[in-house]
Parts: sequence; structure tokens; C-alpha cells
Amino acid sequence: MKVCVIGCGYIGLITATCLAELGHEVVCCDVDEHRIGLLRKGIVPIHEPGIVELVKKHTTKDKELLFFSHHTSEAITYAEIIFICVNTPPTLDGSLNMGNIWNVAKQIGCNLNDYKVVVQKSTVPMGTARKITQVIKDNRITPVDFDVVANPEFLREGNAVLDFLNGDRVVIGCESWRGSEKLIELYATLPSRAILTTLESAEMIKYASNAFLAMKISYINSIARICEKTGADVKEVAIGMGSDHRIGEEFLNAGLGYGGSCFGKDNRALIHLSNQLGIDFDILKAVEIVNEQQISLFIEKIKNTLGDLNKKKIGILGLSFKPNTDDIRDSRSIKIIQLLKQEGAVIQAYDPKAMRNMAGTHYDILYCGSPIEAAKDADAVVLVTEWSQFLEIDFHAMKAVMKTPIVFDGRNLYDPMEMKSQGFDYHGIGR
Ligand code: UGA
Repeated sequence: MKVCVIGCGYIGLITATCLAELGHEVVCCDVDEHRIGLLRKGIVPIHEPGIVELVKKHTTKDKELLFFSHHTSEAITYAEIIFICVNTPPTLDGSLNMGNIWNVAKQIGCNLNDYKVVVQKSTVPMGTARKITQVIKDNRITPVDFDVVANPEFLREGNAVLDFLNGDRVVIGCESWRGSEKLIELYATLPSRAILTTLESAEMIKYASNAFLAMKISYINSIARICEKTGADVKEVAIGMGSDHRIGEEFLNAGLGYGGSCFGKDNRALIHLSNQLGIDFDILKAVEIVNEQQISLFIEKIKNTLGDLNKKKIGILGLSFKPNTDDIRDSRSIKIIQLLKQEGAVIQAYDPKAMRNMAGTHYDILYCGSPIEAAKDADAVVLVTEWSQFLEIDFHAMKAVMKTPIVFDGRNLYDPMEMKSQGFDYHGIGR
């Protein structure tokens, strides 16, 4: 099928590339000519396992299925299916700036030359797909037919290509059979279950899913607090809980809480939307509070052990908001570093991928070439992101370079007994 993806950001690029992998002919458009120029040269501006290889595969001469362009109007005319993947930045009150979406909808209306299906991918409030329909209608020059589909994504950063190609479900919110069938055909070769819904249900499914996952995290973090005071081990508790298939074992890792560009933003958007509807979403408000408290409680724990932090050297392991990404948006590290610095601590840090992004911020951090270097002369090491590489640290060597062998494990990556036997004063979360 002929597809146009508007927006070459994170979601747009993954969507376009994976649709090419499914055998469709895809033009990925962006107003950012520099970005398009890079992509045309095969330079992929995001860090995501598998994406570089797939872009290369589908842009190889004579076998091309993936094209990059800044001529969005032409791409709209060419395609039978148009994906809207533009960003919706959050505003101060938790609502979203929807300007990009309306502009694209206008552009689609102005260039509607034949029946097309317009697919809304970005995470947007309920009612957006319906408004997009209206904006397209208001701007079309001739009364050409079209359908709008709400088709939220459930991609995790660091796993997005696999999630796209092997997702649990594909949610297709549409008011017409013609539109739904087109999307079913588009995704026919995916193993994912297709779920057909109304426009608003599809939009709600995305928010409800993210908020639920965030709730699981804050729930287990609250349980962790009780574990810590009673001698239970939250890791054992999570295994015991998670093996009940009604609960499920994922997203029950206690730690420093969730970060990243999605959970916080989506939770706040859902709280804002509920407020507008006169509905108190108290659970979600508590989810946010618990998530923030995880950081302050952790800092308290560090202070209780190290005392006055002024001039204390702290080695931070992990800067990205989670492993396998260089994304530092709403990273727990940033908050922890800010608070430690406020107390006068000196920060030396290591991350396998995110140091370049962090260096672009104004934080005064000494960047190190390895975990051992980050531990050198340190009063304590604080693990914030559970990169698997940190499991392979030579602890004997690390202990030898540290001033005092104290480890604060913000993700429960290490085994407490093992760490103790290596001579460390070890502090996990909820154990
Ligand atoms: C999340 C959702 O998982 C995706 O399904 C969704 O498509 C995406 O948001 C989005 O809205 O676009 P992502 O933000 O990439 O994906 O990251 P997650 O893997 O969900 O992790 C989010 C945060 O939760 C991370 O900081 C992670 O460290 C934390 N987390 C996760 C925990 O603290 N405990 C857990 O058990 C799991």
C-alpha cells in the first residue's frame, strides 16, 4: 500500500520504517529539512536497536520502499493512507499544545485528491480524531471521501522496532468499515491482535494503558516502603504477586520510579482531562506523588548513611531515563543529581549512551569513561539506570578505587547478599 507518514520524529520514523518492513511503500515527511537531509544520507537521528539496519535495508537503491521528503503536500496526494505522527508538546497546566495536529489536518484537507484514510498516531485527548475529521472537511476543496482512524502506538523506547512488529495488539478506532478494513489490510502480516473500537475508545485505551502501567510502578514502590520497614523483600513480593496471571509480572520493579517523556506527560494530561470533566482522578494524583517521593526518600537514605553531603564525591551510574536509550527526558538521574548538588555533593557519572545528551545540559558533572572511573575516590556509588553492563562490573576493582565502599542501588539490580560478601555497604529499595 502507498503510505505517507507526517512527522519524522521518534514515532514517525519507527512507524514509517516498520511499515516499509511490512512491504508497504512509505514516504516519511518532515518540515525539518536538516533532519530529512540526514535521513537521506542514512544518518538516523535516534538511538533505537534495529532502526539503522531497517532504514538501510529499505533505502537501498532498486529495492527502495522508504523515502524521506519535506514535500508533505505531494506525499499526501501520493498516499492512500496518511499517518499523523507530529508532536504535541505539553503546556504548563498539563494540557497539550495541539497546533501541529490541526496544521497537518488542514494540509491534508487542502490536498485531498482521492479517498484516503487518515491515521492519528500521536497520543491525544479523546475527541481529537473527531476534530481532525472536521478540520479536513472544512479545508477540502472538492467533496472527496475520507476516513479518520485513531490508531495509538504502544512502543517502548529501546524496544520500539520489536514492539511494532510483535505488539500484543493493534487498536483501530474508526467509524466506518471501509477505513477499518484498510488498516486491517495494512497490518495484515503482523501477529498482533486487532481490536476494533470507536474513535474515542481508541484514544482512551492509550491513556488508560500508560496510566495503569504508571500506577503499577507507584503501587510496587509503595509496597517497597512497607517491605523496607518490616523485613520483607519487594523483589520476592513482586515475583509472588506477578505470577498471578491476573496481575502479571511486568512493571512491578520497585526503584526510583518512572521517568521518560510519556508516563508523566500522559498522566498529567489525563488528570487535566478528568478535571475538565468534573471527575476527580485521585488514584492518578497519588501515582504522581508517590513517584516524586521515591526520589526524596532515596536522597534521605543517602543522607542518613553519608551524613552531610557537602563536598562528598558521588559516582552516578546511569543517566538515561531507562536502559537501552540515550534519552534523558524526565530522567530520574537529573532530579537526583540536582538534589545531590544542592547538598554540595560533587558528581562524577558514567552512562553507556546518554553522556552526550547530558553534556548538552547545564549540570556540572564530571563525565567518566567507565563505571570504575565514576567510582574513583567516591564516598558512594549511586545506580540510577539498570543498564545490563552494570551487572558485569568488576566489584573487586571498584571497591579498591572507592574512598568508602557504599552502594545505593536505585533499581535493585544487585543481590544484597552478594554485595555484602564483596565488602560493600549496600542499600537497595524495599529489601
Ligand atoms: C511507555 C509505554 O511502556 C509504552 O507502551 C508507550 O507506547 C510509551 O510509553 C508512549 O506513550 O509512547 P517508555 O516511556 O518508552 O514507554 O518506557 P517504559 O519502558 O514504559 O518505562 C517508563 C519508565 O518506567 C522508565 O523510567 C522505567 O525505568 C520505569 N519503570 C518501568 C519502573 O520504574 N518499574 C518498572 O517495573 C517498569
